[in-house]
Amino acid sequence: MPKYRNSLNVDDDEKDPSITRRSFLALMGVGACILGAAQMAGASMLGYLYPNAMKVPPSVFSLGRPEEVLALEGKIYNVKQKVFIETLAGKVRVQTSVCTHLGCTVNMVETGYACPCHGSTYDRFGRNTGGPAPLPLVFFEVFKGASGDLLVDKSKTTLDWEEAWYTPVV
Ligand code: FES
Repeated sequence: MPKYRNSLNVDDDEKDPSITRRSFLALMGVGACILGAAQMAGASMLGYLYPNAMKVPPSVFSLGRPEEVLALEGKIYNVKQKVFIETLAGKVRVQTSVCTHLGCTVNMVETGYACPCHGSTYDRFGRNTGGPAPLPLVFFEVFKGASGDLLVDKSKTTLDWEEAWYTPVV
């Protein structure tokens, strides 16, 4: 009867099976492929395990204690949040500094705001008055949180500069 070798070229009749160099390399190749596939599958699974909410920056941020915010009479710029915080006679409102053309940060100028990138201009209420900017600068909702801090929700916007004022009870 002819002798057939199995895939490892191991003779079943032998007590001490040996493996050829070719079989060993073939096994290593198959093993490397399986390991690589497993690593790729594992890496893609990690993306599902990591909570998506952590990647999205929170739309709500704190301005601080109302008495501290209202003490800052005038308009100041918050670099981190890219907003202008304006306070006047116990009221506060928050407006974006992101140009509605391509997203550069606008600067405060005498007449309102000006974008250094492509020359868009806005009046002091944020209405676009020149350049390629297609829309006005929005105001964000300000409210008092459960902690007592003044909070800003960037997901809630208005173009009404009078409605944008918030008067916190201190
Ligand atoms: S990004 Fe402001 S004018 Fe283009």
